[in-house]
Amino acid sequence: MERTLILIKPDGVKRKLSGKILSKFEDKGMKIVAMKMLVLSKEKAEKHYAVHKDKPFFNGLVSYIISGPIVAAMLEGKNCISVTRTLCGSTDGSKAQPGTIRGDYSMGIEKNIIHASDSEESFRYEWPIYFSPEEVTEYSSGDEELIF
Ligand code: CMP
Repeated sequence: MERTLILIKPDGVKRKLSGKILSKFEDKGMKIVAMKMLVLSKEKAEKHYAVHKDKPFFNGLVSYIISGPIVAAMLEGKNCISVTRTLCGSTDGSKAQPGTIRGDYSMGIEKNIIHASDSEESFRYEWPIYFSPEEVTEYSSGDEELIF
């Protein structure tokens, strides 16, 4: 089984979409193995988005992601990273396919509701920014053979 990290961004939390978004992943068959709500520090936001530090939108992106509470969650399932990215839809909400999270709920490229790790390498880099190893659980949901 693979794991990935998602962040429901401040626009998603303030628009009260957290429950609906988490349900999409659970309904698909993924398991939440860690979760918390937090307001990110500037240092952690800069660390998370370090790969974009030379982009013109970096400062705006950091200010935005620390502007309110976010929900961080670790999901587990088969091919979890790519399945999660597919469910999120394209980065620009105004171009994302209907049926995807961004396609259904977002019109923006910065305010695009959700972040999801784009590779195993990104996941390995990102998750410790949000969780300590003790906060990540291991359990069986009991329905794995019906889903995978
Ligand atoms: P995310 O998946 O969190 O990863 C990087 C983020 O940068 C992306 O979602 C968008 O929110 C943001 N982003 C990407 N391209 C642009 C852009 N051209 N202008 C503003 N924000 C952007």
